[in-house]
Amino acid sequence: MLFSPKKLGNIDVKNRFIVAPMTRVSANPEGTPNNEMLNYYVDYALGGFGLIITEGTYIDELHSQGYENQPGIANQSHVEGWGKIVGAVHKQNVPILQQLLHAGALIQKNRYVSHAISPSPIQPVGEMAPRYIGSGRFPIPREIEKDEIKQVIGSYGDAAARSMEAGFDGIEIHGANGYLPDQFLTTYTNKREDEFGGTLENRLRFHCEVVKEVRKSIGTNATLGIRISQTKINDFEHEWPGQVNDAKIIFSRIAEAGPDYIHISTHKGLVDVFNSKRNLASLAKEYSGITVIGCGGLHDHIKAQGVLEDGDADFIAIGKGALADSGLPNKISAGTKPSEFNPEMISPVATISNTRNWKSKNL
Ligand SMILES: Cc1cc2nc3c(=O)[nH]c(=O)nc-3n(C[C@H](O)[C@H](O)[C@H](O)COP(=O)(O)O)c2cc1C
Repeated sequence: MLFSPKKLGNIDVKNRFIVAPMTRVSANPEGTPNNEMLNYYVDYALGGFGLIITEGTYIDELHSQGYENQPGIANQSHVEGWGKIVGAVHKQNVPILQQLLHAGALIQKNRYVSHAISPSPIQPVGEMAPRYIGSGRFPIPREIEKDEIKQVIGSYGDAAARSMEAGFDGIEIHGANGYLPDQFLTTYTNKREDEFGGTLENRLRFHCEVVKEVRKSIGTNATLGIRISQTKINDFEHEWPGQVNDAKIIFSRIAEAGPDYIHISTHKGLVDVFNSKRNLASLAKEYSGITVIGCGGLHDHIKAQGVLEDGDADFIAIGKGALADSGLPNKISAGTKPSEFNPEMISPVATISNTRNWKSKNL
């Protein structure tokens, strides 16, 4: 099944291997993608992946940027930079989706504004991630105003339109891992008393409105997905308080908003959750009824094949395993062993050049 073709929205994907979105803090300081990034993405296309999802890309010249040297899709020079990457990947007959990210409270560096916004003015738990350049606690964000929420939702639509102009085959909304949409969903970062806070349905409103806005912007020909997780980059232990019942509401409501797929993000691998003997992808599959991408430790192709055969997911996305070896699908197909991930590949920061230098010395 790993090598059988399947449609994702309207895209024909030649196999089930997807490159998971990975922040590489390697763009130019003004957020413009460069040649190093172009070669990095083309390597995945040459290595046999059926689809590439870009790293989290910031959407506006306001509060969305979270990292130094993070790429944006916030202006025309970003569009041109990404356009070259999309063109080079398409030359290899591989589709590519853009992941749209709004950092919310989790800003480690932002060249446009001096403070973060979030549903409520609560200091994020945990600390900045050194691998994305930064250290220490995150400052207390300012509470996002009601009118501003509408503006930010509109910014996702505008950014998606720019992604389409750059030639992308579709959009993945980053709704996971502790960034702005997930800050709305999470009870401890959202104490609002308006229609964006309180009940789970209200805390999901932001995700659903963004999905509808982006769909309006890109139409039904382009593919639209959304990433969802329990854990966060600043909190690896978080579980949805209502467990399976929350999963049911989250996945069914998001599916009603009209994305083509839901992409599950995990930090500890695609393991069983809530003592339910089910993993999050399989719960997403059951309660959403739409296409699901599973992710987490699936560079192990026996495990990946099992996930597909059990019907837990329709595609598998690979993060660290792909970073370690951009030729992973071709190697699995040829029966050779891909290189394994080593944390030193993204140390001290997760730049493309640090990975390349490590590989040239050690592989
Ligand atoms: C260096 C690095 C950067 C990442 N950046 C992103 C990102 O920009 N967006 C995102 O949704 N997930 C991001 N992730 C999470 C991965 O997409 C994936 O969910 C996670 O690594 C688990 O999959 P794996 O076990 O195959 O690595 C990142 C992971 C790594 C290792």
